[in-house]
Amino acid sequence: MKLSIIGAGAVGTSCAHWAIVRKVAEEIYLFDIVPGLAQGKALDLAQSSPLYGFSGKIFGTEDFSHLKGSDVVIITAGKPRTPGMTREDLLKVNAEIVKSCAEKIKTYAPESIVIVVSNPLDAMVYVAYKVTGFPRERVIGMAGVLDSARYRYFIAEALGVSPKDVQALVMGVHGDLMIPLVRLANVSGIPLRELLPEDKIQMIVERTKYGGGEIVNLLKTGSAFTTPGLSTIEMAESILRDEKRILSCSVLLKGEYGVSDVFLGVPVILGRNGVERIIEIELTEEEKELFYKCARACKELIEALPPL
Ligand code: NAI
Ligand code: 2OP
Repeated sequence: MKLSIIGAGAVGTSCAHWAIVRKVAEEIYLFDIVPGLAQGKALDLAQSSPLYGFSGKIFGTEDFSHLKGSDVVIITAGKPRTPGMTREDLLKVNAEIVKSCAEKIKTYAPESIVIVVSNPLDAMVYVAYKVTGFPRERVIGMAGVLDSARYRYFIAEALGVSPKDVQALVMGVHGDLMIPLVRLANVSGIPLRELLPEDKIQMIVERTKYGGGEIVNLLKTGSAFTTPGLSTIEMAESILRDEKRILSCSVLLKGEYGVSDVFLGVPVILGRNGVERIIEIELTEEEKELFYKCARACKELIEALPPL
């Protein structure tokens, strides 16, 4: 299996690190446009292999023809947020960057499955989908896995229990309108509402929605990268190993959940063919309204994109 990662910045390097830890591919390629950056990062990671026991190969390059033969390509190229910026502020600059990455993927890895990470996420997946012309099953956005991990962590922290036992799902946009579902959150099968009072739950929901911004404000020079990297590799692993996990991913909706032509986070089965099924769960009227709001927000972003 060959995994390629475009963008050797904080998130791209974290993806490569977790890909080695999880041993998801025999060949890992890291790409960047900054001369030497991807090579340097790859060499540093490769030198951990005798200590860690990784027998695969990791390379760094600016030559995008090495995308050839990739099974999965991850796009992390793009500017991250700095304090005071919204993900949407990144729209125009990152659209150009993601467009150029998608053109290279289309040329050199036309059979690959693409996972987009760059922000604003749901609009950037749309850019990659349009520019590659790949079927919707092969162009997928990473956000729901990260947002759900944050939600699960905050629940575990509030209860003083192991995060391993917390299951919870975040749907919708990767932005302030995201929907951390309370109704379905549980700890070892026990509904969250049996364990925490409503005011505590609402505080966790709000903290989850602004989870990325909280880290941006603390770091001041960039955004989160460790859990974003692992979240992306969870998706790549499910595809490369054909695990058929159910993960919340940003996918093109064509009537599912009553919306069309927007990318939004919903639970999907991820396997060797990419998105193998979109799981449609029954939403309450209130959840539906929140989901439609997300759809409108994504539509507005798509309409504000420069010509592709
Ligand atoms: P970074 O600035 O550390 O790295 C970005 C890298 O992209 C840089 O090394 C840059 O040289 C490279 N790059 C720029 N244009 C390129 C091109 N045309 N081709 C190849 N490489 C190119 O940024 P970081 O922290 O790695 O974040 C990357 C993106 O991921 C940002 O847009 C950020 O907002 C987003 N992000 C999304 C998350 C999500 O949940 N979807 C989570 C965390 C970050
Ligand atoms: C995050 O949620 C910045 O979107 C990125 O951490």
